[in-house]
Amino acid sequence: MVTSSALQAFLDKLQHLESAFEAAVEEVEDPEDLENIRVTYLSRRGSLVQALSELKDLPEADRPEAGKTANLVKQRLQDRYTQLRDQLQQQREQARREAFDPTLPGRSPWTGTLHPVTLVSEEICTVFQGLGYQVVTGPEVETDFYNFEALNIPQDHPARDMQDTLYLSDSIVLRTHTSPLQIRTMQEQRPPLAAVAPGKVYRRDADLTHSPMFNQIEGFLVDKEISMADLRGTLTHFLRRIFSQNIRIRFRPSFFPFTEPSAEVDISCVICSGKGYSEDGSPCRVCKQTGFVEILGCGMIDPEVFKAVGYDPESYSGFAFGLGIERVAMLKYGIDDLRLFFDNDLPFLDQFRFYPAI
Ligand code: DAH
Repeated sequence: MVTSSALQAFLDKLQHLESAFEAAVEEVEDPEDLENIRVTYLSRRGSLVQALSELKDLPEADRPEAGKTANLVKQRLQDRYTQLRDQLQQQREQARREAFDPTLPGRSPWTGTLHPVTLVSEEICTVFQGLGYQVVTGPEVETDFYNFEALNIPQDHPARDMQDTLYLSDSIVLRTHTSPLQIRTMQEQRPPLAAVAPGKVYRRDADLTHSPMFNQIEGFLVDKEISMADLRGTLTHFLRRIFSQNIRIRFRPSFFPFTEPSAEVDISCVICSGKGYSEDGSPCRVCKQTGFVEILGCGMIDPEVFKAVGYDPESYSGFAFGLGIERVAMLKYGIDDLRLFFDNDLPFLDQFRFYPAI
C-alpha cells in the first residue's frame, strides 16, 4: 500500500511517541515516576491526545488507517500504564508485609512514675495516718505571723537568720518551713489533734547541698498530758517503719524557738549500718565515721505557741517535729546528690517505678 507522506509523518510521530513512552517506562521506580509519565503522555494535555488531535488535519483517505493505528497505540500505552501501576502497588504491599514482623513484642506506652520525694512523702503520711493523724496542707506564700511571730520567732530574734527568708513584701514571705501549719491547724481545730503537713518550703540558699526550694513534713500532736515519752515513742515507731526496724535512735538536746525542750534526732547510719566504715574499710562519707546521721528536729510545743493560738498552756501540752523529705529520700535510697531531685532526669526517676509506697 502506498502511504501518503502526511500519513507517514503521522505514523512516524506515533511510533516515536510510543518509543519515548517505552523508554520512560523502563526508568520508573516509584508511583511518582509513573504519575509523571501519565501526565506527560496520557493526560488530557499529554502528548498522545496532542497527536490524536492532528488526525483531523490528515487527508480524508488517510484517516481510517491513521485512526486505527492511533487507537492501537493508545490502547498499548494505556495497558502498559495500568499494568505498571498494579505492579508497583503489589510491590509496595509486599514490602509492607515483609516489614511487619508479627512475632515482635508490642510496644507498651511509656508511663510516668512517682517522684522519690512524692513517694517518701506519701510513705511518711501513710505511717502517721496509721496512728490516726490527719494530713493537712497550707499556703506556700505565708504571712510573717504564721511563719515567724506565732511560732515564737519575734522580729529581732536571731533564729530568723537561720531561715534565710525569701520576702515578697515586708510581711509576706515564701514559707521557710512547714511549721506554720501547726498554727493554722491549731487555730482551726481544738485538741485533741494530731496532724502531719507535707509541702514545699523556700530559703535563700543554693549550693551543692542546698536548694532554694525543698520539701519538709511537719508533725504535731496536742492533747492533755502529752510528754516527751510520747514524742520519743512516736518518732521511734515512725523512723523504724521508714528505714528499718534495726536502726538505733538518739535524741540530742537542741534549740528551736517553738519547742521547749527541743531535740535533734539522729538515726544510726543507714549507709554503713552505724559502723562508721564502708564495707571496703574506708570511712563512711555519709555519717563521717560517727555512725549516726541527723534526721529531724523536734520538741514539746512551747507555751508561747499555745498562747498565740488561744490554747491554755496549763491545760494542753503537745509535741512537734519537722524533717526534710529529700534528706529522708537520700538516706533511704542511697542518693548522694541533692540536684538529682530537681533535674527531671528520666532514667533516674524511672528507677523509682519499683518502690511502691508502704
Ligand atoms: N521548722 C524547723 C526547720 O525548718 C524544723 C522543726 C524543728 C520543726 C523542730 C518542728 C520542731 O516542729 O519541733 O528547721
